[in-house]
Amino acid sequence: MSSMDTSVNLQEEYNKTEIAKILNLLNEELVGLVPVKSRIREIAALLLIDKLRKNLGITAGSPGLHMSFTGSPGTGKTTVGLKMSDILFQLGYIKKGHLLTVTRDDLVGQYIGHTAPKTKEVLKKAMGGVLFIDEAYYLYKPDNERDYGSEAIEILLQVMENQRDDLVVILAGYKEPMDKFYESNPGLSSRIANHIDFPDYTVEELLKISKMMLEEQQYQLTTQAEVALTQYIAKRKEKPLFANARSVKNALDRARMRQANRIFDSRGQILTKKELVNIEAEDILQSTIFD
Ligand SMILES: Nc1ncnc2c1ncn2[C@@H]1O[C@H](COP(=O)(O)OP(=O)(O)OP(=O)(O)O)[C@@H](O)[C@H]1O
Ligand SMILES: [Mg+2]
Repeated sequence: MSSMDTSVNLQEEYNKTEIAKILNLLNEELVGLVPVKSRIREIAALLLIDKLRKNLGITAGSPGLHMSFTGSPGTGKTTVGLKMSDILFQLGYIKKGHLLTVTRDDLVGQYIGHTAPKTKEVLKKAMGGVLFIDEAYYLYKPDNERDYGSEAIEILLQVMENQRDDLVVILAGYKEPMDKFYESNPGLSSRIANHIDFPDYTVEELLKISKMMLEEQQYQLTTQAEVALTQYIAKRKEKPLFANARSVKNALDRARMRQANRIFDSRGQILTKKELVNIEAEDILQSTIFD
């Protein structure tokens, strides 16, 4: 029998992994992020097919899987990084499947000779998993020619190239500084196969995220409160330091506090379950954003 006649069962292989479950969960748990989700699906498909090819003795260089996540604050970069490590583990691409989040200070030392051991220590801990470098652009300080950041980048580059079967590196940060960072470090940029951009959420998406967050904590918006929250989000979006889903999360924490306060002030009443669950419009409208 020629080797071309050998076959594998895609469905069987697919079922062996938990990948379908993870992709579905990803879809359900994360609102919006359509381009991000489709890239993840593509990566998962590539890895699965690669595995099948290997089973049949068709070899291909293992695809580089280093990634770049760019986007505004609170758009889900860290959250997706965690899911990504799950997926890569399920597909057998990484052996341990943990995610280690670091920033510049974990990699770069203050004094001469301190950076290399620091960076190597971090890389050792991350082996078999995902190294998530948050605010990666801080690694490179062009104004300071004695900066030890470039030493860390050198070591990182070598490992990204030579040990790509054992480690996936994700560089994350806000779009503009990351673009500048890559311009100054083309070697790094070109070793990253997947540049994924996280779009800002629309008001509708943020409302949907709010409802999911509340549901998780067994709270509910009244119809009026939902109107108020929609107005709140539209206003908050235009203010400085807006951080997408994180701003919404913080706003909901404050609304819960106001709800508790409101109920507390009405002491003496017998409380119903509904009253304890409901967030009312006034719990939202008391925000200073409406002043
Ligand atoms: N699409 C989404 N659906 C539901 N919840 C989300 C979504 N995106 C983000 N969140 C929630 O919003 C919060 C902030 O997300 P996350 O920390 O992943 O953002 P980030 O992009 O890493 O932000 P930063 O750039 O500031 O580090 C988390 O609590 C996360 O669960
Ligand atoms: Mg983050």
